[in-house]
Amino acid sequence: MEDRIVDAKIQAEDSELDTHLRPRTFDGYIGQEQAKEGLKIAIAATKQTSEPLDHILLFGPPGLGKTTLATIIANETGVNLRPTSGPAVERAGDLAAILTNLQEGDILFIDEIHALSRAVEEVLYSAMEDFCFDIMVGKGPSARSLKLTLPRFTLIGATTRAGALSSPLRDRFGATYRLDFYTENEIEQILQRSARILQVSLPDDCAKLISQCSRRTPRTANRILKRVREYALVKNGGSITSDIVRATLEMLTIDEAGLDEVDRKILATIIEQFKGGPVGVNSIAAAISEETQTIEDVYEPYLLQAGFLQRTAQGRIATEQAYRHLNIPLPQSKSPLPL
Ligand SMILES: Nc1ncnc2c1ncn2[C@@H]1O[C@H](COP(=O)(O)OP(=O)(O)OP(=O)(O)O)[C@@H](O)[C@H]1O
Ligand SMILES: [Mg+2]
Repeated sequence: MEDRIVDAKIQAEDSELDTHLRPRTFDGYIGQEQAKEGLKIAIAATKQTSEPLDHILLFGPPGLGKTTLATIIANETGVNLRPTSGPAVERAGDLAAILTNLQEGDILFIDEIHALSRAVEEVLYSAMEDFCFDIMVGKGPSARSLKLTLPRFTLIGATTRAGALSSPLRDRFGATYRLDFYTENEIEQILQRSARILQVSLPDDCAKLISQCSRRTPRTANRILKRVREYALVKNGGSITSDIVRATLEMLTIDEAGLDEVDRKILATIIEQFKGGPVGVNSIAAAISEETQTIEDVYEPYLLQAGFLQRTAQGRIATEQAYRHLNIPLPQSKSPLPL
């Protein structure tokens, strides 16, 4: 499928934009006050005690700033960040190589930590707890286990799916922070910050328009800003106006609630093919030829958060707001719909 502009998951064009716009200090990191507050205290404490930071788990939907936060933590603590990701660490031996190369105090950042295999997870949690791990050397009867001591490090794990982590692993994190969707006002501030870096002038009403369509997600906001800037450059000598923003959004087929065609298709499918639900996510996935996991991780979080969808034990239900948004008359016979 073609990349969706509102898809908060990272896409090829993002890497350049991401490094360019990514804040390096807490001051540049807008919102997520609770996480920032807790982390600032933890960092100040480690500086006084010279103990490494506790292991930290960051979770939340894609594009809300987990990787950014990990980079900031390393920066503000003044230590190295060693990034890797769950899918990249296939075997226990891969992890051993990474761990033995760490220096005292380093931060090991494992993105998509839910993707680690159970075997790797097991090695990881003894490393997290005791800063050592056992490896088997030799084969057959002469095989013996060797205990390696590791430098004391901090693990930062990031995941979009905290539920997919095994509980022994989850329990070994000293602190867990859940990143939430931003407020529209925070997104406007993020847009203004990005506009300054990109050296474009962004009138307040334009920032507001973009923020309303950004699914309260910084990555999406920055991506739309980039498109608006290009559009303004080609059509309006570089000057961004509300008409330019509206035209860009129309070109990108993003509506005023930040929904794109796939979102609307999900809602329309629930309403038209499944009588508004409840319907299982597998049936929705089959009906629109999409993967169940993708629907759960990428599309649903925002639809739920914005009140278009409700998740119940029986399945997904389209809310009254979804009917109104799609201009579909409410069914007469149904019991009152969730608002
Ligand atoms: N609080 C923030 N303030 C300013 N900009 C932010 C903030 N959070 C994220 N961003 C911007 O959004 C972009 C995406 O953030 P980031 O890559 O950290 O998301 P993520 O949560 O790691 O996503 P994924 O789950 O896909 O890995 C960053 O490049 C950064 O420019
Ligand atoms: Mg990330």
